[in-house]
Amino acid sequence: FRYFTYLWRLTYLSTIAGAAYLAYGVYELRHPDDQFESDPTKKNLVILGTGWGAVSLLKKLDTENYNVIVISPRNYFLFTPLLPSCTTGTVEHRSIMEPIRSITRHKKAAVKFYEAEATNIDPDRKIILIDDNSDIKGASSKTEVPYDMLVVSVGAENATFGIPGVKEHSCFLKEIGDAQNIRKRIMDCVETATFKDQSPEEVKRLLHMVVVGGGPTGVEFAGELQDFFDQDIKKWIPEISDKFKVTLIEALPNVLPMFSKQLIEYTESTFKEEKITIMTKTAVKKVTDTTVEAEVTAPDGKKTMTTMPYGLLVWATGNAVRPVVKDLMSKIPAQKDSRRGLAVNEYLVVQGTKDIWATGDCAVAGYAPTAQVASQEGAFLARLFNTMAKSEAIESQIYDLSSNLNVKAGDSAAVAKEIEAHERQLRRIKDIKPFHYTHQGSMAYIGSERAVADVSWLNGNFATGGGLTYLFWRSAYLSMCFSTRNRVLVVIDWLKSKTFGRDVSRE
Ligand code: FAD
Ligand code: NAI
Repeated sequence: FRYFTYLWRLTYLSTIAGAAYLAYGVYELRHPDDQFESDPTKKNLVILGTGWGAVSLLKKLDTENYNVIVISPRNYFLFTPLLPSCTTGTVEHRSIMEPIRSITRHKKAAVKFYEAEATNIDPDRKIILIDDNSDIKGASSKTEVPYDMLVVSVGAENATFGIPGVKEHSCFLKEIGDAQNIRKRIMDCVETATFKDQSPEEVKRLLHMVVVGGGPTGVEFAGELQDFFDQDIKKWIPEISDKFKVTLIEALPNVLPMFSKQLIEYTESTFKEEKITIMTKTAVKKVTDTTVEAEVTAPDGKKTMTTMPYGLLVWATGNAVRPVVKDLMSKIPAQKDSRRGLAVNEYLVVQGTKDIWATGDCAVAGYAPTAQVASQEGAFLARLFNTMAKSEAIESQIYDLSSNLNVKAGDSAAVAKEIEAHERQLRRIKDIKPFHYTHQGSMAYIGSERAVADVSWLNGNFATGGGLTYLFWRSAYLSMCFSTRNRVLVVIDWLKSKTFGRDVSRE
């Protein structure tokens, strides 16, 4: 009985503590403190982008040290790891978006935000051309922003390798709009397939969902899509049960090349159980509005062409360099050999420049283009810039004290001691180590409530897959969500889709 009393008290107290923590989180979010005005006499620190790299920098940056300006066509941060779940309505899109205004408003000193695309960076004049490409434009929609320090964190665009028809006919999966588009098209295909007098070939085509690219984006989307069909669509529209088909096409011999062999095999066997067809060693060469043409390499090395009719085509073949980055690279001679983005040094300074830094998918620092890398790079830059500001402040104090030393000869011993202390502090501060990436592991959802994870823990690597890994995947991603608000909304979405099923309405 005593044991149960203790357990009851413990549960009771932890529930109250959890509720208090949540309430405090919500209160803090809704009641930001007054901010210092931004200081135009300080250095202009311009950050391009509101993705993983930029927001992680902003989060840790002491904004009172600089006149900070953020420029991005997207006025929110997007938690990309849960984007595949938005394509089927397992998670609603607003649950994984965090308004940049809320992030900047919680900084000590005000940060300016311009919703615009950087179209041109002039490293000689230290000017960025920006363009408001949103639907509503004011009298001023194109202008220049000068910078003293610039962080390029604009991510990457979708790679299409110039394959004919891809841009015109595929759906991509990078932004919120892409996920909404896919969600709409899945149901459009289903409803059109059940239209009166639809021919069997047309039904087969419309219900053939093709995913190109067997990296984590393609695999996670294919898993989510098959779940949507098995758990919801099939229940409401049973007549298409045996006609809906998901095919994943990958040019390499296997999917998820960054995972261990054991997890690749586990993923492939899980997909087989889920009835997702995997076509490896198959490279798509051409896309039309209704077909995908691919080159299949047989085990004996013989190559044949195949044509597959499709209803929905999702293209997930990785990253390509954005035009604004390509253009900047062409202006810096030291970047001439770089192909995949801005080559940076160990302090993330763009090679060939002094005052431009780059993070994330647009930077080439020797790491994979992942959120993990981008956010660690952003946090590193925040530390670097905070330290630079501190050391500049100390340097100016030393300068003032040294001037005093000449004037107030009487206090010279005390002032000299103070200078020495400042110089010691300065040496400590200036000892900034280069950027070092710590890999925490890789995870991917593979459908039917299973996930795979290659996790680094206690200097070891663990490869695991299955239902427990899925719970681990969910809790890890929940903890990584940007804010308490995001976490609560995502949990509500998961409960909602589990309890009531996903919504099959087309809009
Ligand atoms: P992004 O996060 O892409 O941000 C780029 C920002 O720049 C955006 O705000 C954009 O609007 C802005 N921008 C674009 N052009 C301009 C311009 N011209 N001027 C100004 N601003 C501009 N990684 C993981 O580690 N784990 C995962 O589980 C994971 N899941 C993913 C799932 C999906 C579906 C996708 C697509 C990616 C996933 N990634 C994951 C990869 C991860 O999202 C990227 O590596 C990460 O977003 C890179 O961060 P970034 O800051 O470089 O770019
Ligand atoms: P990716 O680059 O990882 O994979 C793309 C795949 O498409 C490659 O395997 C490539 O061989 C294949 N491909 C290219 N052209 C093809 C063609 N014509 N026909 C058939 N296949 C073709 O791209 P992805 O999945 O978009 O990921 C981008 C980055 O984001 C990666 O660094 C990835 O690690 C990261 N990411 C991580 C996730 C996670 O950790 N869960 C989830 C999603 C993305």
